[in-house]
Amino acid sequence: MITSQMESAFNEQINAELYSSYLYLAMAAYFQEANLPGFAHWMTIQAQEELFHAMKFYRYLVERGGRVVLEAIAKPPVSWDGPLAVLLATQEHEATVTARINSLMDVAIAQKDHAAVSFLQWFVDEQVEEEDSVQTLVQRLKLIGADGGALYLMDRDLATRVFTPPAQ
Ligand code: FEO
Repeated sequence: MITSQMESAFNEQINAELYSSYLYLAMAAYFQEANLPGFAHWMTIQAQEELFHAMKFYRYLVERGGRVVLEAIAKPPVSWDGPLAVLLATQEHEATVTARINSLMDVAIAQKDHAAVSFLQWFVDEQVEEEDSVQTLVQRLKLIGADGGALYLMDRDLATRVFTPPAQ
């Protein structure tokens, strides 16, 4: 059985993951409007991944005998100042997610909840990957600058991203 402190921390994380999904879906819509379908597709996959993260926490909480309590999801922004601004916002957001996961890990360690520590390790590793993939895109966009042709090619590349659900 999970402690009530871990239960509420995990419920907050379900909400945070759902917000991440909502945020990336808003970014996808922004890219659609900006005629960058590849970027939009990449963000849609990102949104799917976040939904997967939320469900991973949801399933875990149920499995540990906790009670899932869903709160309202905050409204994400509607617009950004260009593709680089979107990716910088994504990078910043992922850094806050990493900090959240680290805090959850701190709680699990403090409570000597070894099962939760083991569960959270997956997210610690996932965040390294998440931050790295966004950083790569930011660096590429910075190199591209105002080169429309290079932006077109990057958009075409991003259209090939495939969502592969990780093992449950
Ligand atoms: Fe759920 Fe992008 O971390």
